[in-house]
Amino acid sequence: MITYVDAPSKARRTAGVIPLHGEEGFAGMRKAGALTALALDVLTPFVEPGVPTATIDKIAYEFARDHGAVPATVFYKGYRHSLCTSINHVVCHGIPDDRPLRDGDIVNIDLTLVVDGWHGDSSRMYPVGEITRKAERLIEVTYESLAAGLAAAVPGNTTGDIGAAIQSYAEGERTSVVRDFVGHGVGKLFHDEPNIMHFGTPGTGVPLRPGMIFTIEPMINLGRPHVKILSDGWTAVTRDRTLSAQCEHSIGITETGHEIFTLSPGGIFNPMAPAKAA
Ligand code: MF3
Ligand code: CO
Ligand code: CO
Repeated sequence: MITYVDAPSKARRTAGVIPLHGEEGFAGMRKAGALTALALDVLTPFVEPGVPTATIDKIAYEFARDHGAVPATVFYKGYRHSLCTSINHVVCHGIPDDRPLRDGDIVNIDLTLVVDGWHGDSSRMYPVGEITRKAERLIEVTYESLAAGLAAAVPGNTTGDIGAAIQSYAEGERTSVVRDFVGHGVGKLFHDEPNIMHFGTPGTGVPLRPGMIFTIEPMINLGRPHVKILSDGWTAVTRDRTLSAQCEHSIGITETGHEIFTLSPGGIFNPMAPAKAA
């Protein structure tokens, strides 16, 4: 059985209980999502050959501080950084470090800024210098996979419809969907109910209702879907070391469809129009 509750003012995850948010939650998420999206725009010119990901992390930290926000990942379950930087065959949760980015890398930057207690969670792909046609295509497929999931995120559909839409698009493009990480409810909590799987069967899972707020964040691989976690306890990589890409938006289900809280204010969250040209 599925239980929905009016989102409580106190943030507490209860298994199987899905919070439904009102105008206050949507207003809070609009603000947090907009700031996260602006930060991801602002980082764009720094994602260049020679720049260490630790520098990008520092810029994000300072951006948050200067805008009255806190990155949700600092001190999150022992994580110490403001964002995740997942390069090439890294699927997600890559840790910023002092190694300079190299021409041809593709990097996902995943940032969650907390504004007035609300979590704006978003990630995008950034090409470093000139990337291969193969990498470019993977980024396009990943972006379109997110778009397919969004198209299914309407009231009356289920969480399974979102996953099925993503999976059928991605697999139709001869890529694979990572199973080990999922989208999630988001709001006053960083990770809330429900889980949003990026694969699945139409009509299964939780019916989508106006007021639900969650992320969709498919990870798409050029090779097989399997991942392993490195000894740092965080970094997830493809087992076959093929390239992986990810895009993430935070959204709210409305009466008629959905609202995306993390749209790029500069209109540069679109791999078809490479960030470089913006
Ligand atoms: N932002 C990630 C997500 O989309 C979570 C990162 S948790 C971290 O849910 F600790 F690895 F940063
Ligand atoms: Co997320
Ligand atoms: Co994220």
